[in-house]
Amino acid sequence: MLGPVILAASRSDRMRRFVSAAPGTKQVVARFIAGESVDQVVPVVQDSAAKGLEVTLDVVGEDITTREQAYAARDAYLELIGRLKELDLGTQAEMSVKLSMFGQALDGGHELALANVRPVVEAAAAIGTTVTLDAEDHTTLDSMFAIHEELRKDFPGTGCVIQAYLFRTEADARRLAANGSRVRIVKGAYKEPAEVAYQQKSEIDKAYVRVLRILMEGEGYPMIGSHDPRLISIAQELARRAGRKLDEYEFQMLYGIRGEEHLRLAAEGHRMRVYTAYGTDWYGYFMRRLAEKPANLRFFARSMLTR
Ligand code: FDA
Repeated sequence: MLGPVILAASRSDRMRRFVSAAPGTKQVVARFIAGESVDQVVPVVQDSAAKGLEVTLDVVGEDITTREQAYAARDAYLELIGRLKELDLGTQAEMSVKLSMFGQALDGGHELALANVRPVVEAAAAIGTTVTLDAEDHTTLDSMFAIHEELRKDFPGTGCVIQAYLFRTEADARRLAANGSRVRIVKGAYKEPAEVAYQQKSEIDKAYVRVLRILMEGEGYPMIGSHDPRLISIAQELARRAGRKLDEYEFQMLYGIRGEEHLRLAAEGHRMRVYTAYGTDWYGYFMRRLAEKPANLRFFARSMLTR
């Protein structure tokens, strides 16, 4: 019940100001956000690599309102890539981007987002790594998939995300699986209306398994984005049945969530990538993490009260 309320609050400026200023916020945010700057995230990347984990780095931010902010987002990723070059980790450290941070919702936003993200994908390729386009709310997806297709003409390793809760996703999965794309499948983290998305957890989980099967049986590279133990073991079984080797798919989880499971899957020989978010504009990302698990909200409320 609380999830949709928190998701609505994630788009409110008033709530943003309140939550950002609340005592105790920083301590709770630090569980999910690996640092505020490139300097702070680099040691986290090195630590993950030392443990046999891979990362996908997200400079947090979304729903920007000016072209200058879109250029700043591009520059923040270019700065990150400069630092990754020194680490020389190849695809062990890739990046995830939200096109809304690159200007997608502004006037002429589709072209602006493409023009801004292309240099990032180019620079990533130059250091031997890749970029994955995150999935945001359903109104942005046609543009995201078109940008993905355009980028793949020159950079076929560019990945994208599909969300099991959307009715459209099985068709998207078929298209992407047939053309050999890297695809991350997730349940979906936005507040979506019943006209376009399943609302019940059981329906979303069933859709997730249907989409997983399509991806595992297809030509692409499936990236299983979930912390759900049931879906993880189903993914392992579907990969086995599809005859996929351990390096022909990967698991992905979020920084700060089920860390022991990251290590367990890596120790079993799986590719395990940790989605590692950092930066100062953490509000939207943080609120979605609260919405996913009400216990997080209780912890957050307690940390405010005990200060
Ligand atoms: P579920 O929510 O059922 O959680 C299973 C278990 O995991 C819980 O019981 C709990 O133990 C743990 N858990 C899950 N979330 C937690 C949290 N926030 N705090 C503490 N414990 C938690 N969404 C999207 O719309 N677009 C995107 O691009 C992405 N990208 C993305 C990348 C990666 C690597 C992951 C793992 C997830 C995303 N998501 C996303 C988010 C995704 O849509 C979904 O909201 C979360 O992964 C939660 O769903 P689970 O599959 O983990 O299952």
